[in-house]
Amino acid sequence: MDVKNKLSQLRKNLEQHNYNYYVKAEPTISDTEYDFLMKELEAMEADYPEYYDADSPSQKVGGVINKSFESFQHLNPMLSLGNTYNEDELKEFDKRVEKGLGTNQYEYVCELKFDGLSISLHYENGILEKAVTRGDGVKGDIVTDNVKTIKTLKTHLKGDVPNKLEARGEIFMHRAAFNRLNEQRVAKGDKEYANPRNVASGTLKQQDSADVAKRPLDIFIYHIIEKENRFENHWQSLAAARNWGLKVSTDAKICSTMNDVLDFIQVWDNKRHELGYDIDGVVIKVNDFHQREELGFTAKSPRWAISFKFKTLAASTELVEVTYQVGRTGSITPVANLEPVQLLGTTVKRASLHNFDEIERLGLHKNDVVFVEKGGEIIPKITGINFEKRNPNSIPIQYITHCPECNTLLVREEGEANHYCPNELGCPPQIIGKIQHFTHRKACDIQSLGDETIATLYREGILTNIADLYDLKAEQIMGLERMGEKSAENIIEGIFQSKVVPFDKVLFGLGIRYVGATVAQKLAAAYKNIDALANANIESLEKVDEIGTRIAQSVVEYFSDPLNQVMIQRLKTAGVQLEMDVDANQLVSTILEGKTIVISGVFSQYSRDELVQMITSNGGKKGSSISSKTDFLLAGDKMGPSKLEKAEKLEIPIISEETFLEMVQV
Ligand code: IVH
Repeated sequence: MDVKNKLSQLRKNLEQHNYNYYVKAEPTISDTEYDFLMKELEAMEADYPEYYDADSPSQKVGGVINKSFESFQHLNPMLSLGNTYNEDELKEFDKRVEKGLGTNQYEYVCELKFDGLSISLHYENGILEKAVTRGDGVKGDIVTDNVKTIKTLKTHLKGDVPNKLEARGEIFMHRAAFNRLNEQRVAKGDKEYANPRNVASGTLKQQDSADVAKRPLDIFIYHIIEKENRFENHWQSLAAARNWGLKVSTDAKICSTMNDVLDFIQVWDNKRHELGYDIDGVVIKVNDFHQREELGFTAKSPRWAISFKFKTLAASTELVEVTYQVGRTGSITPVANLEPVQLLGTTVKRASLHNFDEIERLGLHKNDVVFVEKGGEIIPKITGINFEKRNPNSIPIQYITHCPECNTLLVREEGEANHYCPNELGCPPQIIGKIQHFTHRKACDIQSLGDETIATLYREGILTNIADLYDLKAEQIMGLERMGEKSAENIIEGIFQSKVVPFDKVLFGLGIRYVGATVAQKLAAAYKNIDALANANIESLEKVDEIGTRIAQSVVEYFSDPLNQVMIQRLKTAGVQLEMDVDANQLVSTILEGKTIVISGVFSQYSRDELVQMITSNGGKKGSSISSKTDFLLAGDKMGPSKLEKAEKLEIPIISEETFLEMVQV
């Protein structure tokens, strides 16, 4: 394949991966594989500058530091929309439109109301010149560098684009990306973000666009302004915008009657949870541009458009009692048990109260009448108390001091939202939860053994910890209710198979507090076997990438418990994988196939020999000197200036130890 074709294929490939990740939120490759493809593209583009393309995926990640944002006066003020909340208000709007136009010959375009923040994009001759936030509607902040990090946004439009074009739209974050971000924050011990909109808005105001690039945002364009009067109506302008390469939602519809509008609203009110991002209503806009002009604006909003806000349905009911659930890690979650009430077609009997602070915040008393709401979430929440109905003699809810399951004194660590039961090895739901966790897919994957069976085996006194699994006999299972010989054998076989599950998954399966799947991978890679990990001190643990004090403390605590030590010894005897596969010649991946990497300098995490080993075990070759055949220069500290100069001259990508480790997924 010639260079041009190879480049175009790489770019297309990356664009597809961007789409999978940012739009569909269903990536088909790992971040490392993605980074690797990107590096390959960048290296090729550096070699062949004649094929430069401003719209290449490589041009989309920012790294520019803005000290503060310059402000910009909008050419047309960015108005907001009037809101309606019910059919009657919407019909009144329609009447005003009909009256204003003096005819009933008009149609609406119904669109989704994206829950993010609005942005105005200025294109000159098809090139993105400026991106401005709404600000106060008159003036906003210029955030062009940050907006350019949005991978679904085209900085260069194609086709017959008006010389001057303003495209307005909404920037938002997909729920999957938001959840991923929160998972990472929890792993690092940071507080979770409240909702995708807040994150999107905070992200856009970051000073460093490299930080913005790490938090994937997306955009939908919903309004086009151009001075050539090319279009008769909004629908046409959106279709053209789509052809120019702007991202316009296809979940829009022309509606010529109020009934069609109401249908559209109904459909999306029901379907909104199926979208990967939040919407908070529907926007209804008169389609024809002349008719829009006739209707004009009020001081605050256009007379030709309105938004219909979805209801977050509320109901009121009595609090019967607060009970407490104990999770696998001992974390206590208070649950409000309610007098059953109908809400959005389902009977609500329980609502999560999250933690003690939430009970305090609400000021909940026994037998209070509370308001429950169901918003975007599946689990309803208590949003307030009907104080008028409060019995003056009622007493505040007292938070429990002892575990409801094992009566151990609860603890709450500084900075933690939840209380927890420290009786890890003696508290039934924690024991059952830990064994269940060990068998789950991301851990030791013992699918034949279901959660219910584990609970039963615990109650029967057969299973008391993970190690007992490996002593389990088919006869012991067969004695249980609804367990035949075949199921029992399947369970035993499943447990046997789990002995080949790699060390990092076993480590995750142990259920050490704060050690999620990714942290387990990092720890396994860094210490190679369970003994080395068990002997590690906090200082050494903290040197591992992504391991903070909280995780380090938890690991040390876990291994210092004699009962855990005995259990691990039993797992070892049973033949469970408690060390990394260390066959030096085994190919771990082919991710570096055909790549020659020169190593130079001093490294902080691995020795040179280890790095060479990683290059070869991932299919690559170590180069001895820099030449045009070198694909990457892996540079450490104190690298000789001549090497650096040579690499720069030959435009060989220089990568750091961290980048390299990411490439090989260590
Ligand atoms: S049209 C003059 N369309 O809702 C027309 N707005 O209060 C202006 N929004 O600030 C907006 N989805 O941020 C329009 N499909 C959509 C929208 C939308 C979300 C936001 C936008 C605006 C606010 C209206």
